[in-house]
Amino acid sequence: ETPRSDAFVFFGATGDLAYKQIFPALYAMQRRGHLDMPVIGVSRSSWDKAKLVQRARDSISQHGQIDEQVFSGLAEHLEYVSGDYQDQDTYRCLRAALGQARRPLHYLAIPPGMFDVVVRGLAQSGCAGEARVVVEKPFGRDLATARKLEAMLTETFAPGSIFRIDHYLGKEPVQNLLYFRYANVFAEPIWNRHHIDSIQITMAESFGVQGRGSFYDGVGAVRDVIQNHMLQVVSLLATEPPPAGHPDAVRDAQCRVFQAMCPVLPQDAVLGQFQGYQSEPGVAAGSRVETYAALRLAIDNERWSGVPFFIRSGKCLPVTATEVLVKFKPLRHAVFDTTPSNYFRFRISPDVLLCVGARVKLPGEAMAGETVELTAHHQAADEMSPYERLLGDALRGDPALFARYESIEAAWRVVTPLLESGAAPLPYEPGSWGPKQAEGLTAAVGGWHDPKPPDSKR
Ligand code: BG6
Repeated sequence: ETPRSDAFVFFGATGDLAYKQIFPALYAMQRRGHLDMPVIGVSRSSWDKAKLVQRARDSISQHGQIDEQVFSGLAEHLEYVSGDYQDQDTYRCLRAALGQARRPLHYLAIPPGMFDVVVRGLAQSGCAGEARVVVEKPFGRDLATARKLEAMLTETFAPGSIFRIDHYLGKEPVQNLLYFRYANVFAEPIWNRHHIDSIQITMAESFGVQGRGSFYDGVGAVRDVIQNHMLQVVSLLATEPPPAGHPDAVRDAQCRVFQAMCPVLPQDAVLGQFQGYQSEPGVAAGSRVETYAALRLAIDNERWSGVPFFIRSGKCLPVTATEVLVKFKPLRHAVFDTTPSNYFRFRISPDVLLCVGARVKLPGEAMAGETVELTAHHQAADEMSPYERLLGDALRGDPALFARYESIEAAWRVVTPLLESGAAPLPYEPGSWGPKQAEGLTAAVGGWHDPKPPDSKR
């Protein structure tokens, strides 16, 4: 048992990530009685505690009704430290604000370019000793910078104290991929190249870069979501059965999948950029950054040899929805019509569904059928958000749902040829499904499956 952190510190307190994710997660923790420690926001802006509390209120009220009693409990924990990250005084103030706390959790919700300076500041001021640290994805910009970042972090923090967050791993329906596979007698025996024809993952977003232009333009779709969120989803879909009861067994199994993924060559990918991207605030004129990526991934092992994994994500697509489609091969010996064949459709967001595509006889004299979907909705009323879940895990020192460094390295290897190709992304119209050329990737498996908006039936 590792001791619980005794303070929560977040750098970048006035920023986008804090606003969108951290305040709502802290509020939810407070509401459940899980927040029993000082919460210190740090930022360069010359704010004070009152302004931070107001920011927290604005953020939380965006997500729903505020319970004033819960909010005042949260506000009591909040402290604000203002200062330049280069300045040792900032860390002295932080050390003072920490008071008795000796094992803070430091969340670096800041541009990766600042990690180095902040970690050094923490180390030199005695704020890092027994502390834990959470770093946001993308972890580095490529293999070389990931290695450097890891080396830098391990100079100051113990290996078990570094939490590389990927919020997809904190999503219930993402964890369900693993659960479903190993808790159902009908799943595992057919979960391999003998029965699975192809797997598709689409993460579509109907919005653009929403004021994050300057961040996004230094990143692009491959680094923003493919190298991390999408490949983590693949790793859960593709593991070998982990031995039960070993805390790190799932991460070991995921790691082996990452290592078996083949690097994606430029001819197996289509990168796109929505028209109008270059006039977004913060985006460089003439930018060659991709806002869309579609690719075919191969996993080179006995289970998956020959099964394509298609991954696609983009901004300004027709809907906001994430789905996994596992398509089965037709029966070898067809007594009846078996096309289209069976599938599992896992809808990850915004609504959570599990659908089994099954053939069922149509009423009538002919032995002819149709495909129906057997659907389960599974969304709990008071589910933890991924950030609430993962921050709670990090405070407890539980690394199970955080990315392993070895997996991150392997994931960078997978996307390196794409990052190095230097090809200009193909333009696509906002509101379309991306560049037409992407259709070629899935032509052999019947095309892309386009997730529908949540109110329509599919
Ligand atoms: C983030 C990306 O990690 O994930 C964003 O930086 C993206 O660009 C977001 O919009 C999507 O997360 P979710 O949980 O809304 O699917």
